[in-house]
Amino acid sequence: MTTQTTNSNIELPSWPHDLYSDEVLADPWDTFRALRDIGPAVRLAKHEDAVALPRYAEVRAALADPKTFASGRGVTLNPMLNEFAAGSTVLMTDGEQHRQLRAVLMKRLTPRYLRPLAEAMQVAADALVDELVERGSFDAVQDLAVALPTSIVPDLIGWPRKQRENLLPWAAATFNLFGPPNDRSAEAMPLFAALNEFAHQIVDSGDVLPGSIVDDLLAAAHRGELPIEQCPMFLLDYMTPSLDTTISALSSAVQLFARHPEQWDLVRADTSLIPSAFNEIVRLTSPVTHFTREVTVDTELCGIPLSAGTRVLVMFASANRDERKWERPNDFDVTRDATEMLGFGFGVHGCAGQGLARLEGHALLESLAKRVTRFEAGEAQPALNNTIHALASLPITVCPAAGSRK
Ligand code: HEM
Repeated sequence: MTTQTTNSNIELPSWPHDLYSDEVLADPWDTFRALRDIGPAVRLAKHEDAVALPRYAEVRAALADPKTFASGRGVTLNPMLNEFAAGSTVLMTDGEQHRQLRAVLMKRLTPRYLRPLAEAMQVAADALVDELVERGSFDAVQDLAVALPTSIVPDLIGWPRKQRENLLPWAAATFNLFGPPNDRSAEAMPLFAALNEFAHQIVDSGDVLPGSIVDDLLAAAHRGELPIEQCPMFLLDYMTPSLDTTISALSSAVQLFARHPEQWDLVRADTSLIPSAFNEIVRLTSPVTHFTREVTVDTELCGIPLSAGTRVLVMFASANRDERKWERPNDFDVTRDATEMLGFGFGVHGCAGQGLARLEGHALLESLAKRVTRFEAGEAQPALNNTIHALASLPITVCPAAGSRK
């Protein structure tokens, strides 16, 4: 580790390693701990001297001040993607423009709209878990965590029925592009281009499911409330974060309960713990590891001077394990109050789909709690992605609860 002088002549520690190597992506926790130990703000020499914020207090403070820590100049470490997408997605806009775009999206994601979906979600989760328990052994990623969101979310968003088989590869590619320019992001480019082209086709043809989020978006554009030429980007904005994130959380949930059977016993004995268990799962596994912000004016963040133009890495996952914030941060404890975790972000850009993600997570855990007493896990394979911390596969064998097999 060396120290470097920033534009504002303040010395920040500098870290020389690749935060996006295969090893770090597969198991990032020791690296995050090392960064937290170095300091509250650490220059990433390998990544254009972006300033990493690995601790809870600074991450939360940056998210709470969107004027100074802007999203409208891009939230990725990839300058090309920042230029392409900034100012044209919910995620990458600021102020009034962001408020307006978010209002269209949120219309169908409020608790009032989601409530009727809860029943359909539970029915889908029950049917899926019935089938898997009958089988006994299955892959918790493909057969369980992928199956539930992909059966419900694309309809809610309004994605046409064709090309659905491409949704997951396209979403993974987009999240790879959020990282720094590296091999993974280079490989992602053609897939992102195909997704972009399909989004243009959807907007041109108006081929979306009636009564869906994208239907609302196109209607607002046709009323002149939004520029129609930006609609393809908004569409990516809705689709990309709605699947991989939740799939990661659901598969991690099974892995955690396989590793910690005593926590599963607690949930089975008292299913009112499910909402707090889901928060704890998102805290501990943080499907979205980090996004970035650009500093708009010379400023101080928790006493650290940062100059205008600095790109900061807002490390949700590291903050969620900061020992300054959490007692026993690496322990999985379903009774912990994890409501202040930052796995869904915080502030004006806080996850627009968290109500939906919770609905999916709660339904699945309810179904499993009734039907499964134990999960036995085989060897998991990580899915290496520049932004999403996830598993590619997780072989699972379940012990069924009495009477849960037909
Ligand atoms: C466990 C599942 C999920 C996790 C961990 C997660 C995580 C996050 C995080 C950390 C952010 C903050 C981004 C920032 O501050 O720059 C975010 C924003 C967002 N999420 Fe999620 N997300 C999940 C599920 C979903 C779902 C199901 C949707 C479906 C619609 C969704 C849509 C969005 C959108 C549109 C934004 C941008 C909001 C804005 O900029 O105003 N997410 N998510």
